[in-house]
Amino acid sequence: MKSKKLFKDLKAAVKFLQKRYKQVPEVGIVLGSGLGDFTNDIVIEKEVSYKDIPNFPVSTVKGHSGKLIFGKLGGKTVVVMAGRFHYYEGYDSNDVVFPIRVMKLLGVETLFLSNAAGGVNPEYRVGDIMIIRDHISLYVPNPLVGPNIEEFGPRFPDMSEPYKRTLIQRAKEIASANQFELKTGVYFGVTGPTFETRAEYEMIHRLGGDVVGMSTVQEVIIAHHMGLQVFAMSVVTDMGLREDGIITTHDEVLEAAKAASPKLATIFRELVACI
Ligand code: HPA
Repeated sequence: MKSKKLFKDLKAAVKFLQKRYKQVPEVGIVLGSGLGDFTNDIVIEKEVSYKDIPNFPVSTVKGHSGKLIFGKLGGKTVVVMAGRFHYYEGYDSNDVVFPIRVMKLLGVETLFLSNAAGGVNPEYRVGDIMIIRDHISLYVPNPLVGPNIEEFGPRFPDMSEPYKRTLIQRAKEIASANQFELKTGVYFGVTGPTFETRAEYEMIHRLGGDVVGMSTVQEVIIAHHMGLQVFAMSVVTDMGLREDGIITTHDEVLEAAKAASPKLATIFRELVACI
């Protein structure tokens, strides 16, 4: 997409939102599949449906309600995406990351992301929460392909620390203060929509992935390109490497994500407060 057109589209969305909510959100939060309960923790001040925002894509997946929520969490002004856009839905990469760019233009400096993911580390169990310390993405198109938008960031962004180490450290401290365990590992990004074959789960594990999922990577690349601090967590909703005869279903993924949601909410709430 031409950068002038993209900027015009972004500005229209931002102007629309700024008319409806006057405060500047410091933190942006993206909620993954089945993790919408988290919004109960937010003092909601304004909700805007994606379908009403100029140039916003519209979410089609079950379990994604599709709205931006503005309000307070841990004493900070936040904007939350309840429902995100996935490459597998047929959007192009620029659409998947459009809301992240909107968040940046609204004033967001830190981005939290969450997702449902399949476990490939044999030590993981369904319901575990993993802090993403790094990612591998060999199949999902890089959303920065195309003319670089210099106003946002450099042509060749460094990717040695896309996930902010200080936030990872703080999240670990919060988990231990609340007496629950968090894993820390590598998220392997795939396009979906198929879950992986046994051979693919095995390959992902051997290549260094701890979990595998169909979101997050493109959003993180764009956020990092624009200089946002990023913190992300996966909920392990199914195990890729498992006994014969057990299959993975979307309903199972949603259910496991919902069950883990309170822990995730604790981390986000307490982490927001100390930014
Ligand atoms: N693979 C890819 N994406 C996923 C999975 C999985 O096993 N579980 C939840 N999202």
